[in-house]
Amino acid sequence: MIKQAIIPLAGLGTRLLPLTSVFAKELLPINGKPGLEYILDECFEAGIKEIIFIISDKKKMIKDYFYNDTFYKKILKKKKDIRILKEYKKILKYKKMIKFVYQNKPLGTGDAVMKTKKHIKSNHFLMLLPDDLIVKNNCSKEMINVHKKHKSSVMASMTVNKKTVSRWGIYKLSKKLSKNNYKIEDVIEKPKIKDAPSNKAVIGRYILPKKIFSEIKDLKPGKGGEIHITDAIQNLIKKNNLFVAHNFKGKYLDCGTLHGYINSTLEISKL
Ligand code: UTP
Repeated sequence: MIKQAIIPLAGLGTRLLPLTSVFAKELLPINGKPGLEYILDECFEAGIKEIIFIISDKKKMIKDYFYNDTFYKKILKKKKDIRILKEYKKILKYKKMIKFVYQNKPLGTGDAVMKTKKHIKSNHFLMLLPDDLIVKNNCSKEMINVHKKHKSSVMASMTVNKKTVSRWGIYKLSKKLSKNNYKIEDVIEKPKIKDAPSNKAVIGRYILPKKIFSEIKDLKPGKGGEIHITDAIQNLIKKNNLFVAHNFKGKYLDCGTLHGYINSTLEISKL
């Protein structure tokens, strides 16, 4: 059973500057609620019991957001406000589920994942990238079902415009295993258009095996000098570990760019 999730939050968020010069992008409101809470709601509804946040000293405000009990208690003593009480209870619920680990140098997503090693208990765990919101259908829940069915690792997949492949991890897929699920033959981090094996892209939901940690340990820096989780996954696939690409049903919203962030607010307000 998948009961643990990890969420890398230690990146610099340069594409959202100047907002991110003083603020954690994951706390920016999307239709009145921090983007990160949509991710937490998805985890909770998918049956996740423990969530590990990878933050940095610069992103400490994320921890503060969940550890502000005294402030809430003071306000609630003065004001018997039902809305504030509800928000407080929600924050408390998540506080109990979250553990924090630190990655103070953003050396890449693979390095971020490595920081969670000693907390992972079972053979597989879920990873969610908070810039990638998926609404309307719970993608994590779908992926946990795919994991149960195929006893495999799983990654979310979406068709993207061919001209944009160099922004994504791109799959080479082989046979169809079941409806919306394909065996992954290879995955390449941000390929040039001419080298891309398809226009099927990795979206930020992964069910990863515990053995990913020993693979990351041996990785050399890849594209842009970073340690990429995609490179560790590529090595595991080469060693015949089954990874399944799942075409999710929900709507994908990219919150990592200013245009995408603004669009997310518009889209979610229509739901
Ligand atoms: P990105 O590279 O897409 O986002 O990382 P970023 O670094 O935050 O933002 P830009 O590219 O500078 O605008 C994907 C996810 O992985 C986390 C980020 O916080 C983001 O959620 N990440 C990335 C880490 O936790 N550590 C890293 O070293 C790199």
